[in-house]
Amino acid sequence: MVKLDKHYVDPRLVVLYDIENPRGEDTDFYLNFAKKINAKHIVDLGCGTGILTRELAQPGREVIGVDPASAMLAVAQQHPDADRVQWINGDASILGNRQADLVLMTGNVAQVFLEIDDWLTTLTNIFNSLRPGGYLAFESRNPLVKSWQQWNRDESYYEFDSPHGRMASWVEVVDVHDNRVQLEGHNLFLETGEVIVAESELVFRSREEIAAQLTQIGFTVERVYGDWHQTTFDDAQRLMVFIARRPL
Ligand SMILES: C[S@@+](CC[C@H](N)C(=O)[O-])C[C@H]1O[C@@H](n2cnc3c(N)ncnc32)[C@H](O)[C@@H]1O
Repeated sequence: MVKLDKHYVDPRLVVLYDIENPRGEDTDFYLNFAKKINAKHIVDLGCGTGILTRELAQPGREVIGVDPASAMLAVAQQHPDADRVQWINGDASILGNRQADLVLMTGNVAQVFLEIDDWLTTLTNIFNSLRPGGYLAFESRNPLVKSWQQWNRDESYYEFDSPHGRMASWVEVVDVHDNRVQLEGHNLFLETGEVIVAESELVFRSREEIAAQLTQIGFTVERVYGDWHQTTFDDAQRLMVFIARRPL
């Protein structure tokens, strides 16, 4: 079972998520992809506060947002257009056979599955939830670029306005071991001096590993992009955006 990071559980941090992770090029990429394949039944797994989920939910589409963090879903549900989405508090084990056209995992959700068994079970549940010919799209950071080397106070510190007043936030790496990175997210409430430190751990699987795992489950890997502009992935790129398909 995946342990949830305080950023997704502590209501004081959950309200910061959309400020620190606003809509971006990734949102447009996934919206365009859903449009391109004419997806009518979409699952957003690890939907969080649902920025993308709500935009996906257009007339003629059934959109389901799934997340184990109820505090993230509570923020998602506060928006006026939230009732166009079916929100489910859970993980991929609740998906069942939905004949979905598209399952998404965005915001590097794929990197929370530290144990290989959890990851393969999640991929299997996704595979079974798709119709034949349905797609899985997600991204994961490229381990070869070692983005965690910039995860230190000097390079990641920034300040911003929040519902709690002015805040500062930064990340610090605690340990890098095999393909795992342990880190701390520091959240300093500048008006009171209080600090909340959120510990988390991410797994960095390589392109080859992920492709082999997808193939093992039965997916066909159709594309691996290296950015949000559909550039074919190469080893120097920060991101790996996988487009996998359940065969027809
Ligand atoms: C970085 S956020 C991404 C949220 C959203 N997809 C986005 O792009 O902004 C990671 C999300 O993954 C969720 N998560 C953690 N463990 C999970 C699991 N086992 N299955 C599905 N989602 C999970 C967290 O609760 C959190 O909302």
